[in-house]
Amino acid sequence: MTNETIITDEIFTTPEGFSCSVLFKQNYQSTAHIVVNQGGTSSGKTFAIEQVLFCLAGETAKQIITIVGQDIPNLKAGALRDALTIYHSSEILQGKIKSYNKTDRTFEFANGSGTMG
Ligand SMILES: Nc1ncnc2c1ncn2[C@@H]1O[C@H](COP(=O)(O)OP(=O)(O)O)[C@@H](O)[C@H]1O
Ligand SMILES: [Mg+2]
Repeated sequence: MTNETIITDEIFTTPEGFSCSVLFKQNYQSTAHIVVNQGGTSSGKTFAIEQVLFCLAGETAKQIITIVGQDIPNLKAGALRDALTIYHSSEILQGKIKSYNKTDRTFEFANGSGTMG
C-alpha cells in the first residue's frame, strides 16, 4: 500500500513514442521504492512495467535491470516476447539500444545500461 498521490490531469508526454496504458504512467511517475502491481491475467501489468524499465534504462546510465519469471520457457513466451514487441515499436528506443543478445536474452544500451531476462 502507498499513500502516494498520482496526479492524473497533468499533460503527459509518452517517452520513447510508446503506445501506453494508464498503468505505464502510474508506474513511471511513481517515486516509491517498491511498486506492487495487482490485477487479472493479461491486464497489461508486465507490458507496462517493461515499457517503464526500458525508459529508465535509457534515461539513466549504467543501470542493470533484471526481469525474472518462474522459468525460461515462461519468460520467452511472456516477458521476453513483449520486450521484443516494445523494442520494435519504438525507433527512439531502438536508437538507444546498442545490441540485443539472443543467447543471453540481454539488451545492451549505448549508455551502459542493460536489461536481462
Ligand atoms: N500497451 C500495450 N500495447 C500493446 N499490447 C499490449 C499492451 N499492454 C498489453 N498488451 C498485450 O496484452 C498481453 C497481456 O499483457 P500482460 O502485460 O502480459 O498482462 P499481465 O502481466 O497483467 O498478465 C501482452 O502480451 C500484449 O500482447
Ligand atoms: Mg505478467
